[in-house]
Amino acid sequence: MFNKKKGGNKKILALDETEDTKKISVSKKRKLNLSDVEVKESTPQVKKLVDLDDFDVAKYTNDPLITSSNNIEFLKHILRKQKTLKSSIDKPLTDVDKTIVNILTSVKDYLPKDDKLHITLTYAQSLDSRIGYRFKKTPISHIETKQMTHFLRYHHDGIVVGYNTFIEDNPNLNFKYYENTMSYFIKNDNRKIVPIVLDPKLKIKEHIKNHKNINLKTNYESGIGAKSIFVCLESQYKKTEESWMDVLAVPDNLYYNIPELLKYISEKQPLIKSFMIEGGASIINKMIEHNNENNFIDTTIITIAPIYLGNEGVLVTPAIKTKNTLGNVEWVKGTNDTVLLSKK
Ligand SMILES: NC(=O)c1ccc[n+]([C@@H]2O[C@H](COP(=O)([O-])OP(=O)(O)OC[C@H]3O[C@@H](n4cnc5c(N)ncnc54)[C@H](OP(=O)(O)O)[C@@H]3O)[C@@H](O)[C@H]2O)c1
Repeated sequence: MFNKKKGGNKKILALDETEDTKKISVSKKRKLNLSDVEVKESTPQVKKLVDLDDFDVAKYTNDPLITSSNNIEFLKHILRKQKTLKSSIDKPLTDVDKTIVNILTSVKDYLPKDDKLHITLTYAQSLDSRIGYRFKKTPISHIETKQMTHFLRYHHDGIVVGYNTFIEDNPNLNFKYYENTMSYFIKNDNRKIVPIVLDPKLKIKEHIKNHKNINLKTNYESGIGAKSIFVCLESQYKKTEESWMDVLAVPDNLYYNIPELLKYISEKQPLIKSFMIEGGASIINKMIEHNNENNFIDTTIITIAPIYLGNEGVLVTPAIKTKNTLGNVEWVKGTNDTVLLSKK
């Protein structure tokens, strides 16, 4: 039961007595923490109450999050995590959009924060730990978690995939801006993230001869993607004349040590400090195996979809002999998928 009483210049919001809500009284000038406030559905004063707060939400009065009282629960959650709302969108969010904003709000705590090397491992898997079928694009994640991937990309400098993923998926590895949801967090500034393909034997040289349709190339040429880097063993290095890609040679003794490899790439390409490793299975397995030894993964974000792919699917299962438990774990629920977030 909700109640609103007035007394002098004080407003008292009588709230449901739940664990995280309690009676509060606030003077007009005092800071009002929205996360402590419950507001009655369809209360005509919703906007007013929100205006009292120091989150400076008053300027978002057209924002559907603010004006629609049935979004208050959601709004509370968002404001617990971030101090400002940045959306300029003036149309109601769908339920799916709300779920996405909710996921992005949680993801914010797992993003690279400073200029130090940051390694994020992220992928989408089925209930049987499969991440796709061979040579067949296998949608696993819901649109909600797909948007999360783009949001993650925005916050990284380079996206890393193994050569098989490049060949089998012909991936775009670029950033797509979804205004409805992302405008609460970021601006569409045409951010380009560097695609990095781990191609030890530089097989791309042969591949180019027979394949014209390479999305990384098309994206670069049409201005929606950054120049790719193909990372090969020093012993396999060959120059390239291709304008859409560079080749980076790495000393053979470093190459298969993924933490050392990423450090080396960052040293040679100082603008790349944060890496988002997206797969495929061999790279993910190796990452987890190395991480068991030296804990170099800063963030792990795994989407788990309610599907089975069966034993023909590509399997993620590292060759480790001891239990590897992720730290600081949070689970965020989408409509279909669940996202596991973990950080060092
Ligand atoms: N669901 C998801 O989130 C997701 C994401 C990405 C990919 N995938 C799927 O994953 C599948 C591909 O996985 P995959 O395991 O076959 O291939 P992969 O991990 O994409 O690439 C493996 C290749 O990368 C090269 N490589 C470079 N460094 C390596 C290292 N340290 N360890 C192992 N290999 C290294 C090797 O090339 P050489 O053989 O030339 O030595 C190796 O064969 C595709 O079906 C794709 O659709 C799913």
